[in-house]
Amino acid sequence: MERLPGFRDFYPEPLPGADSWSADARQYIFERWRAVARRYGFREYDGPPVEPLELYTTKSGEEIVGQLYNFEDKGGRSVALRPEMTPTVARMIAACERSYKKPVKWFAIPQLFRFERQQKGRLKEHFQLNADIFGESDPAAEAELIALLIDTLRAFGLGAEDFVIRLSSRDAWEEFHTRRRAEQAPGDGGLGQDGAGAPGAGEFYQVIDKLDRADRQESARKLEALGFSLGEVTEFIERARPTPGLESILGSLEARGLREFVRVDYQVVRGLAYYTGAVFEAFDRKGEFRAIAGGGRYDNLVELVSAGKVRLPALGFGMGDVVLAELLKARGLLPVFGAHPDVYCLIEDERLRAESLKAVQALREAGFSVEYPLTRTNADKQFKRAMEMRAGRTLRIERAVEGGVAARVKNLTSRKETVGGIEGLVELVKGA
Ligand code: HAM
Repeated sequence: MERLPGFRDFYPEPLPGADSWSADARQYIFERWRAVARRYGFREYDGPPVEPLELYTTKSGEEIVGQLYNFEDKGGRSVALRPEMTPTVARMIAACERSYKKPVKWFAIPQLFRFERQQKGRLKEHFQLNADIFGESDPAAEAELIALLIDTLRAFGLGAEDFVIRLSSRDAWEEFHTRRRAEQAPGDGGLGQDGAGAPGAGEFYQVIDKLDRADRQESARKLEALGFSLGEVTEFIERARPTPGLESILGSLEARGLREFVRVDYQVVRGLAYYTGAVFEAFDRKGEFRAIAGGGRYDNLVELVSAGKVRLPALGFGMGDVVLAELLKARGLLPVFGAHPDVYCLIEDERLRAESLKAVQALREAGFSVEYPLTRTNADKQFKRAMEMRAGRTLRIERAVEGGVAARVKNLTSRKETVGGIEGLVELVKGA
């Protein structure tokens, strides 16, 4: 049996093939994500991997809805595997908003499912760090979130030469849109507060979002159909004049010494429908990969998900593991993983197996990772195995001259050997 296309098997290292996915690298990525999110005061939550289909159909926007993994369950409910975490977290906070002091800062590492065509950096399943802030409408929240995004990438050894945050604003586009509409037909509205609210707004954002990937002539044609010229759109993007909101975010990042990681770039609008203000995406500087992360402010989603019961400003981002792992691999920033036990216990004399197992148990209880041959094994093979595993030390239980047993510990890096009584085994290994 083969696995389904677009899904991954994660193997422990050393990997069986060049394109295998590493369970060790995945763990390494999750650990760093968690550590940095906690450093920023974010608390971990989780939700169900299956949700009512309805949670996505009206809220996420066409692109994600077209990629839903949905089905009818045995109870006749229309359900979907979660394609993103944002509607779930909006639902969760709306349900118990009063139990938490604002601003609420939460993170999660969900596995998400999207029925996309498999391509570089895009699979049918991925893990995504989600960090979101609820209950704060000041741009200070955006700055805090973007700082977290930057520091998360820096925690992997990536620097300003490796990645850039392209910062944009749907407010800026709305202003542009309103101005143009007013020129064309005075009295007509702009893009509307929820982005996709006004006719054509969602489509307009989709065209802008794909501008750097799509065929230029086709983009020009689509924009013309919506009443814009590619020229004026390009000019607006090139001018990149920050809105007061963006100025405030940039000032806060400047104060933290993180300004060099961010560039105002109005070409970013985000494909998702629910964004209402500042939006941003992280890209590798060389432009070799798809977006590493994306997010923004979505002040109306909690209200939408709670059918008008709860109004709460919100913002957040998602960072996928697929592009990040590819980028870290390409830049040589993934460590070499392996079992690396602290101790390999050699059992060369089977008559000492019981004493050896006792020592193995004592060391494991003291917190050391310990390996040993499960069955009778040739001495050379045992030593070779300890070397291959890159064990820190070997341990040999021996008969002591004065009767009883002794422990011989060898540090495999310094080659230093120490011998001592079995009673002081833990201290002996610690010092070796
Ligand atoms: P998104 O831009 O759809 O945003 O996804 C965020 C990141 O997840 C992308 O930049 C990419 O790294 C990764 N990603 C998305 N789809 C795939 C895929 N098919 N395969 C591999 N990686 C993928 C959201 O999902 C928003 N809900 C983020 C957010 C949180 N906004 C506010 N809070």
